[in-house]
Amino acid sequence: MDNNGEKKQQQLVCVTGAGGFIGSWVVKELLLHGYRVRGTARDPADSKNAHLLALEGAKEGLSLCGADLIDCDDLRAAFSGCHGVFHVASPTINDDPELMLAAVEGTRNVMNAAADMGVRRVVFTSSYGAVHMDPNRSPDTVMDETCWSDYDFCKQTGNFYCCAKMMAEKTATEEAARRGLELAVVVPSMTIGPALQQAMNMSIAHIARYMMGTKKVSPNAVAAYTDVRDVARAHLLVYERRHDAPSSRYLCIGAVLHRSRLVQLLGDLFPNYHVTAKCEDDGKPMARPYRFSNQRLRDLGLEFTPIRESLYETVMSLKQKGHLCLPVPVPKRARL
Ligand SMILES: NC(=O)c1ccc[n+]([C@@H]2O[C@H](COP(=O)([O-])OP(=O)(O)OC[C@H]3O[C@@H](n4cnc5c(N)ncnc54)[C@H](OP(=O)(O)O)[C@@H]3O)[C@@H](O)[C@H]2O)c1
Repeated sequence: MDNNGEKKQQQLVCVTGAGGFIGSWVVKELLLHGYRVRGTARDPADSKNAHLLALEGAKEGLSLCGADLIDCDDLRAAFSGCHGVFHVASPTINDDPELMLAAVEGTRNVMNAAADMGVRRVVFTSSYGAVHMDPNRSPDTVMDETCWSDYDFCKQTGNFYCCAKMMAEKTATEEAARRGLELAVVVPSMTIGPALQQAMNMSIAHIARYMMGTKKVSPNAVAAYTDVRDVARAHLLVYERRHDAPSSRYLCIGAVLHRSRLVQLLGDLFPNYHVTAKCEDDGKPMARPYRFSNQRLRDLGLEFTPIRESLYETVMSLKQKGHLCLPVPVPKRARL
C-alpha cells in the first residue's frame, strides 16, 4: 500500500519523455515497483523507443502514447486515468529554437492537463542549472534547496538551457499552487551512468568526448555529477514520500569534481583509451569545487552511487552500444 492507501499495482502513472536517458530509467524503476506506466514520446513507434518495450515488466505494465508538450489534447489523452505524472521531457540543447517554448509552455501545459484529468501528484525533473549558476554566491556556501541560479547571469552568458529550466520549474510551482496539484521537484546534476536507450544524450556525450581524444584539453571548471539510477530512484522516493514536507525541491547531486579529476578517474579506469590528459591553463587559479547538500534525498533513504562506479558503467555502456571506437594502440616511443 502507498501513502494514499491505494495499492501501487492499481496505480497508473505517466512519464513524459519516456524514451530519453532519464525517462527510460524512471520507467524501469516504476515498473520494478509495480506501477502501471504510460510513457509518452513524440513518435512512440520510432525504433529509438524500442528498448522500453523490452524492459522487465513492460509486457504487462507499459503502454506508449504519442504526445508533444505543446499539444494540450495530446497531454490530456496521455494523463487520462493517471494518478501521478512524472514530467521528465524537455529539450536539453542550449541552441534548440524550441527550447523555451517546449520547456516552459510545455510545462504549463503538462500541469494544466494533469489538473484537468484529475491527476493528484506531479514530479517535475528540474536541473542543477536552475540552482548553481550564481557568480555572487560565496564558494563557502553549502548549496541546498533554497538556492537559485541568477537568471540574468545565465542569459548574459548564453546559458539558455539554465534559463529554460529555471522558468520551467517556477512555472510548475506556480501552476501546481494555482490548480491545487501536489508537486515534488527532483533537481539532478549532470547525469551519467549506463544508458538504456541506444542514442547518446547530452550528458553521456560529455563523458564520451573525453574518452575519444576529441577534446584535447579539459577546462579549468567544476561540475556536479549524479548516477542516472539514483535520479530514477529519487523520482520514485519523492513521489511516494509523505505529503507534509516543507519544500517540494530535492537536490539530486552525488559528487562535485574538477574536470581534471574527472579525466584522471577515467584515465585510471580505462588506461587503454586516449583520455584527455591536459587541463586548460587559463591563467586563473584552479576552480574550486562548490559545496552542496543532498541530505533531503538521503533522509528519504537514497544512497548515492560512488562516482567511480558511475563513470565505469557509463563507459562500459558507451562501449557496449558501439559509441566508443576501439583504442588505437599508443606507438612505442622511438629509441634514441
Ligand atoms: N542528462 C542530464 O545531465 C540532466 C541533468 C539535469 C536535468 N536533466 C533533465 O532531465 C530531463 C531528461 O533529460 P535527458 O538527459 O534524459 O534527455 P534526453 O535523453 O535528451 O531526453 C529528453 C526527452 O525529452 C523529450 N522531448 C524533448 N522535446 C519535447 C517536446 N517538444 N515534446 C515532447 N517531448 C519532448 C524527448 O522525447 P522525444 O523522444 O519525443 O524526442 C526525450 O525523450 C530533462 O528535463 C532535462 O532537463 C537532465
